[in-house]
Amino acid sequence: MKRVAILISGGGSNMVRLVEDMQAGGYAAPVLVLSNDPSAGGIAKAERLGVPTAVVDHRPFGKDRAAFEAELLKPLAAAAPDVICLAGFMRVLTPAFVRPFAGRMLNIHPSLLPKYPGLHTHQRALDAGDAEAGCTVHEVTPELDAGPILGQARVPVEAGDSADTLAARVLTFEHRLYPAVLRRFVADNRETLFL
Ligand code: GRF
Repeated sequence: MKRVAILISGGGSNMVRLVEDMQAGGYAAPVLVLSNDPSAGGIAKAERLGVPTAVVDHRPFGKDRAAFEAELLKPLAAAAPDVICLAGFMRVLTPAFVRPFAGRMLNIHPSLLPKYPGLHTHQRALDAGDAEAGCTVHEVTPELDAGPILGQARVPVEAGDSADTLAARVLTFEHRLYPAVLRRFVADNRETLFL
């Protein structure tokens, strides 16, 4: 059974959905939830779900990304994952870290890539007057938010939306999209899923 590690930085709502779907569907095993932030709320949620956790605080490493990533790699290598899911993970990973996991590292991004890579995606969609927003699951490549798209969900922008109300609506679609894409991914199905 494919072993899946999940990297988080915060509340981990996407991680919870992934773990619950794997546990319900039995199609993969969640073997580690790893956070760069000791205060991430997702750590306790993972523990309640019975998933091993680890924390590597990025702050002591300052701007030395390579040193942080060398430390991050230790629990990750020990878990020996077949697939890595970034889920609300807010650190940019260097090409040196990403390359060994090429083709088996996924990320969920809260926009309809290639539109709005990077941060503040919902505010940018509102500022542009977009009629719809959404989320994308893609393979992680050395270029940020730019890998092959595995799934997308389009979400209507509603009158009076703020970045927060739009983000909340998109998040409910993320929670459906990511597990659906992971199921296909571990079954070696690379057909793009449009929810
Ligand atoms: C979500 O909007 C996700 O798209 C982004 O991080 C946010 C929080 O995710 N990557 P989570 O609740 O920590 O899974």
